[in-house]
This record gives sequence, C-alpha cells and structure tokens, in this order.
Amino acid sequence: MKKIGIFTSGGDAPGMNACIRAVVRTAVYHGLEVYGIKRGYNGMVKGEISKLESFSVSNTIQKGGTILHSARSKEFMTAEGRQRAYEQLKKYEIDGLVAIGGDGTFAGANIFHEEYGIPIVGAPGTIDNDLYGTDYTIGYDTAVNTALDAIDKIRDTADSHDRVFFIEVMGRDSGYIAIPCAIGGGAEIVMIPESETTIEKVVDTLRTGWSRSKTSFIVIVAEGDVAGHVTEIAGKVQSALPHMDARCTILGHVQRGGAPTAADRMLGSQLGIACVEGLLEGRTNEMAGIANRELVYTPFIDTITKIKPINPYYIRMVDILSV
Ligand code: F6P
Repeated sequence: MKKIGIFTSGGDAPGMNACIRAVVRTAVYHGLEVYGIKRGYNGMVKGEISKLESFSVSNTIQKGGTILHSARSKEFMTAEGRQRAYEQLKKYEIDGLVAIGGDGTFAGANIFHEEYGIPIVGAPGTIDNDLYGTDYTIGYDTAVNTALDAIDKIRDTADSHDRVFFIEVMGRDSGYIAIPCAIGGGAEIVMIPESETTIEKVVDTLRTGWSRSKTSFIVIVAEGDVAGHVTEIAGKVQSALPHMDARCTILGHVQRGGAPTAADRMLGSQLGIACVEGLLEGRTNEMAGIANRELVYTPFIDTITKIKPINPYYIRMVDILSV
C-alpha cells in the first residue's frame, strides 16, 4: 500500500479533526502518501480529492467540525455512484481508505469493499455513541459536555421560576447522550428509546416531587424516544397537571459543534493511528475502537447490525438520585 485516502461522512463530530490529523501524520510517518477526500462519499464520487501533507493538518486538533467537510450521500447508495467513486480513486492510485463516521458510513464502506476490493478501515466518529465495537465514539464526550453546560443554565432559570423543563437531546434512536445528561444534570426523569417511560410515570414522578416540596424539575428526552416528540410529551403531561408551568428546549445541533474535549482529542488521535496501522497490517472492513481501554478492531458488519445496549443500571441511577 502506497497511497491512502481519508474522508469524514455523516454527522460531523468534535474530534474528527484530531483523527484526520493522526491519520495524515501516521501515513507520513510510515512513508505513505495521503489524500483528503472532501464531503464524504459525495466528494469521492465527484473527485474532490487533494494531497495532504503533514503541515496540512497543523493547528486543527483543537477545532470542532471536520476540515474535510461531511455529507450524507444519496449518489453513493447507487451502484453507478459507487462505480464513479471507484474510478476517481483509481485516477489518484489510491489503494486504501480510512473512513471516519457512523453506521451509515460503514454500511457504505462495507458494500464498496465487496464490489471493488479496496481495503477500508474506519474510525467511529459520531456524537451518538451508538456503535457496537467501541465503548466511546469520537465526539460523544464533547457533545455530552456541551449539552450539560446548557442544562446547567436551564436549571438556573427552572429553579428561579419553579418550572418543569423538558429538554430534548440528540442521539437519533439511542439514549447514550441522554443518560449522562440526566445523571450529570441532576434530572428527575430520563426518557430514552431503549427503555419505555410512560406519560403516567412522568406525571407520577412530578406529583411525588411536588409532594416532597421540590419546586423545579428537569426531564431529559432523547430525540428518538418512543413516547413522541418533546413538545408532544410536554403537552400530554401538561394536560394531566394543569397547574404545571412547563417549557421545552431542543438543544439540537449546538451539541455537534465546539472544541473537542481532551478525551475526544485523545480518542481521535489514537484511533487515527490505529486506522493507518490497521491498513498496513492488512486489515479491511473493520472499525478501530476502544473496549475496556484496549484497542480493538470490529468487522463493519457487526458495527452495522449489532446493538450496543444501554446498561439499565444507569436508568436506575436517575431514579435513585432524583428522590
Ligand atoms: O448522528 C448524529 C446526529 O447528530 C444525530 O444525533 C441526529 O439525529 C442527526 O445526526 C441529525 O442529522 P442532521 O444533521 O442531518 O440533521
């Protein structure tokens, strides 16, 4: 292997730049040429490819977002799109790829390898932390800390006005962001897709809290919760508790930005090195991750199809701590 390509795909995540930087520098360290592919699979199809040097990634480790830009590509989902992408890679004689992204990115990589045989190793880059094969994904720690900072601020105003705040956090169909936000933010209730919380349970918890002289409450709602959208949930609870003064806040994309925490810079750097060295060891169709503090590689197919369950003990923690 002499020339590798690197791209970021799907939702951006803080720490992706640390990972790109590590990939570029590890490639240079091992005497490989490295090419940056812009805008994920879209840029691969269109040939948005340029050579990167060690200095190309100077002054990037502390930056949020991704210097390579990102996209969710519809074209790459078609056989014609993937053929065009392969032709672009051939033009640059790229013979290995590093993909930074989530399950959609790895699903694309998996099929691309099956069709064209190009070796691909991935790094888990998503704030959602929902990937099987790694304890943490790049960007998760920063996103949780960003959300917590906002929740602390909301708590101040909730307390001043004796209000109930329903706060929606990201996570697509996973509650990984919601759990530490609820525990670290001192929430009374957490609603996540992995464990059903009924409206009756929310109403009961609030009633019990009031009977114990609590005056303000925080309810963390994961965006994928089965009880519905945060405003719908708040509306139903409001009907059952007409005296409640409720507000909703959707934290949204603020959770995706900002300077990566130390943990995400470390993780991005470690996994970036692991991707390049994995390719050099002959690995393909695998994601580099950290499990129990050890570097591990997991087949893409497992990262796409297997579920990383949430330990129910964390939900119990919220119940105990909100007494
Ligand atoms: O996967 C990361 C994520 O931020 C999810 O938490 C969220 O559901 C989704 O991306 C939002 O995607 P978009 O930025 O395309 O609206």
